[in-house]
Amino acid sequence: MTQDFIAALPKAELHLHIEGSLEPELMFALAARNGVAIPYASVEEVRAAYAFSNLQDFLDIYYAGADVLRTRADFHDLAVAYFDRAAADGVVHAEIMFDPQTHTARGIPFAEVIEGLLSAMAEAEARHGMTSALIMSFLRHLSEEEAFATLEEATPWLERITAVGLDSSEVGHPPEKFARVFAAARGRGLKLVAHAGEEGPPEYVRQALDVLAVDRIDHGNRSLEDAALVERLAREGMTLTVCPLSNLKLCVVDRIEDHPIDAMLAQGLRATINSDDPAYFGGYVADNYRAVAAARGLDRHALATLARNSFTGSFLPPDAIAAHV
Ligand code: HPA
Ligand code: ZN
Repeated sequence: MTQDFIAALPKAELHLHIEGSLEPELMFALAARNGVAIPYASVEEVRAAYAFSNLQDFLDIYYAGADVLRTRADFHDLAVAYFDRAAADGVVHAEIMFDPQTHTARGIPFAEVIEGLLSAMAEAEARHGMTSALIMSFLRHLSEEEAFATLEEATPWLERITAVGLDSSEVGHPPEKFARVFAAARGRGLKLVAHAGEEGPPEYVRQALDVLAVDRIDHGNRSLEDAALVERLAREGMTLTVCPLSNLKLCVVDRIEDHPIDAMLAQGLRATINSDDPAYFGGYVADNYRAVAAARGLDRHALATLARNSFTGSFLPPDAIAAHV
């Protein structure tokens, strides 16, 4: 019953790395299509390798998996597969992140990546009536200078990019490292998001707010360690894009029963539910709703609140948000 309610609930997905939606079956198909060797003998062997004890464990495998993505058609097929799967979960709007530096560092032209994603977005609209937006994420383990070069490279497509983001290895790469490039992105009319408080301390969430002036916080879990920060996030109506199965797989929580999603809502935080890297973490967005609904006993009112937050926290224009909530 709750299962049907969850799939039928119209929702937006706000935290999804398109490279993290690469299912092992597609990884093998693209490896064959592009003549790329992969260090696994079977789909089962790939899945067995997805046992992580922290963020970096995952990132090493995630960046290696992305090596099969070579052409515009690959990025198109990757994103179409995600949009089809998300539509089945009741997603009507998706704001997808992509990591251009993961690809340009391998010699894949920026144009191949973004044109493949843009054609898939048009297809999602035609097939499912799904709207979508692109978030260009900078890899925080690289320098701010490299992020600036990526922003420069994106110039011809800036009208098609809604926001910039910040992902990859968090600890040791605080938001303030990217203060200037985020200010430049804001100056070019882009919205701003950043991963903060996934493994990093509450101070990184404060920096994302104060130094970067982000419009949303990706994850934000560790904000809960700082009562004044929680109070501020609630007062400012800051959206948190929370990813329960990711939190479980990356050991941000020990057990799904320990997930703080209901504590976040109870403290007035504008939390949303998202899948992050569904091919690696064992579930798409409805699976994430189901996991916390079962583990934390969320009722329909709480589930509807989470879905409503996904629209109010989106970068859709106000009239489109009003039509969804
Ligand atoms: N955190 C940081 N970087 C990432 C993630 C994440 O959860 N997923 C993909 N890149
Ligand atoms: Zn993420």
